[in-house]
Amino acid sequence: MKKLNVLVFAGSLRKDSVNRLLAENNIILAPNGMKIEHYLLDGIPNFNQDLETEPPLIVKELKEKVTAADGVIIVTPEYNFSYSSVTKSAIDWVSRPYGTDLWANKPVALQSASPGYMGGSRAQYHLRQVLGYFPAIQLYHPEVFVSSADKKFDSKGKLIDEMTISSVQKQLVAFADLIRKSQK
Ligand code: FNR
Repeated sequence: MKKLNVLVFAGSLRKDSVNRLLAENNIILAPNGMKIEHYLLDGIPNFNQDLETEPPLIVKELKEKVTAADGVIIVTPEYNFSYSSVTKSAIDWVSRPYGTDLWANKPVALQSASPGYMGGSRAQYHLRQVLGYFPAIQLYHPEVFVSSADKKFDSKGKLIDEMTISSVQKQLVAFADLIRKSQK
């Protein structure tokens, strides 16, 4: 069976971001038959429709990565009960110009992490609404919400919370299944 090529990006630009750590941990938690690449959104500018037909190089690179990926995992922080602006800009760039959007029929899984007790769930549900526009092929279950995220990684950034590890692993297995079904 062909190995699945999955892209993950986190919607935080913060150096010590828990969402970036979560994104990075997906690489080692990937099931057999799935390879995950973590793409950093550093430098992705705010979306500007004037540039959509000839976007900055970094945006072209992101679009190429999304095109090549069998599936995309978006890991988002929760900012004021929603997802972050860099997440939205990345999604908007990849969706344009009209008629060429790369999210249509793209398998997408969501994860979020927050030091709070809701684990970024409100951000994820906003994001689901946006992805419904294209529509992307969303994975609905199992969900990954990492609450108290500041306590769930060791000093080297490795996930150390067994329940979180298990929930990510289960989601990745389900995501592989969704991707394979979408390719039939
Ligand atoms: C937050 N934070 C936050 N947390 C949460 O659970 N719900 C929320 O609505 C918000 N709102 C919010 C707004 C803004 C502008 C900031 C900067 C932060 C806290 C947030 O979850 C925390 O800073 C995380 O650590 C951000 O994710 P990264 O950067 O660590 O990945």
